[in-house]
Amino acid sequence: MKNVKVGILGCAGRNGRLLLKEVYGDDVCQLIGGTVREGGAGHGEDLGTLAGLSPLGIYAHAQPGVLFEAADVLIDFTNAATTLRHVDLAIEYQKPIVIGTTGFTDEERSQIIQKSDQTPILLASNMTMGIALLNILVEKVAAVFDESYDIEIVEAHHRHKKDTPSGTTRSLIRAAHRGRKDDDKNTFVVHNEPGEREKGSIGVGVVRGGNEIGTHSVCFYGDEETLELTHRVLDRRIFAKGAVRAAKWLYGKHAGLYRLKDVLKDSDWSIE
Ligand SMILES: NC(=O)c1ccc[n+]([C@@H]2O[C@H](COP(=O)([O-])OP(=O)(O)OC[C@H]3O[C@@H](n4cnc5c(N)ncnc54)[C@H](OP(=O)(O)O)[C@@H]3O)[C@@H](O)[C@H]2O)c1
Repeated sequence: MKNVKVGILGCAGRNGRLLLKEVYGDDVCQLIGGTVREGGAGHGEDLGTLAGLSPLGIYAHAQPGVLFEAADVLIDFTNAATTLRHVDLAIEYQKPIVIGTTGFTDEERSQIIQKSDQTPILLASNMTMGIALLNILVEKVAAVFDESYDIEIVEAHHRHKKDTPSGTTRSLIRAAHRGRKDDDKNTFVVHNEPGEREKGSIGVGVVRGGNEIGTHSVCFYGDEETLELTHRVLDRRIFAKGAVRAAKWLYGKHAGLYRLKDVLKDSDWSIE
């Protein structure tokens, strides 16, 4: 039965359109609306048309408050500034929100985390189960290898991506620091100055081009061996599937901050 009313924030975007289709096709979710930027692409368009389906008679609008009031759970794939406003609306209307958006500053991320004591928030810079697993693996490997192993993360994304490094890379950096029990969990270096590599630092390389959906490699370079862990997205639909799965899981939860690994814990995929 379709008994969970879902609203999509940013429904005309690359991921937003796929989310419309995924929610519409879900057995449990009912697609009740979607928002766009005032005057932006998709404003006034039928959600079915945006999703590549037949018209549904529901139209994209730019009044998030209306959607928050009507929905049971919201999914946000917009941009950092917009998401921060949506978090305040989630608190005002007491609705759970799944946040897929990335590009927050450390300060903005802290703000969202602090506000999660007022409404359920699931924050995941990557909605794939593979990256949820990779975060756990990286933490474990970094805990075993000492600092004689240099950690380098290389990521590739399409030419339109706005934030750099990606939210996923930032989460992998934090996982590596957690494994190493470092105090500062957010530091990394970009090798753009001549000179030797600093011992113990985490290096990041960023590639942007074409239609690359997203590849992340975490490499542990020792003197006599190298361990490389790579995750590659082959189809963007996996982000929408993960977000819808997260939304169904978040519905009915108490206020708090949740991660994709919490969804994993309650599934057949439990890995810890
Ligand atoms: N968590 C994950 O698994 C995952 C995966 C992929 C991407 N992402 C992140 O998700 C975000 C969106 O990515 P994308 O590739 O879908 O980008 P996108 O194609 O640019 O989509 C973002 C959409 O949000 C719209 N928007 C801007 N302001 C808005 C507002 N006030 N209200 C409603 N909609 C608004 C944009 O409209 P205009 O174009 O008219 O401004 C655009 O249609 C990015 O931060 C990206 O890094 C996360």
